[in-house]
Amino acid sequence: MSHNTIALNKQRQPLDHLESVWLFGYGSLIYKADFPYLQRRPAFIRGWQRRFWQGSHDHRGTPEAPGRVATLIEKPGARCAGMAYKVTPDTFDHLDHREKNGYLRVLTQLQWLDEPGETEGLVYMASSDNDAWLGPASEADIAAHIARSEGPSGPNSEYLLKLAEALRELDEQDEHVFAVEQALLELPGHKGAAST
Ligand code: SIN
Repeated sequence: MSHNTIALNKQRQPLDHLESVWLFGYGSLIYKADFPYLQRRPAFIRGWQRRFWQGSHDHRGTPEAPGRVATLIEKPGARCAGMAYKVTPDTFDHLDHREKNGYLRVLTQLQWLDEPGETEGLVYMASSDNDAWLGPASEADIAAHIARSEGPSGPNSEYLLKLAEALRELDEQDEHVFAVEQALLELPGHKGAAST
């Protein structure tokens, strides 16, 4: 599958007949809402875990030197918290462009984080069959990769640190993200590293 998913998302899932749609964000969509929304609510999805296994050619890296960004990996019993946004269907023109680097929209069930209740929504997922996929690596290797990567949206480390911060604000304990963050902060020469 090509790593540019704009046409694929439009054709797989026309939304124009709907008044509004819930979108679940688990990566940069938690901390960077650069689109209009009708409502914003903390939520989680079941059966998925967040992993820095997707390559970024267009935001936090380049095609020659991709960065590492988050995607979702299926895992029975897991849960992944993030932020849900109620948006109008035309917002997906912007979102599909922003998430075009390997992410496909998938329909999923969202549960609210702050009260019982659920709704159906869309989530952008990048799976192993997209051309920008990088796959698993140790958390130390992921941190080193992130530390040296940069793209048109800025340093890859900013993505990681902002995501970790946003998860703390949600009171979410994500061991993978926090382990990668810790490994990054311990790298020699990094801003957060002890100055020895
Ligand atoms: C998301 O945030 O939900 C998708 C991945 C990203 O844009 O970081």
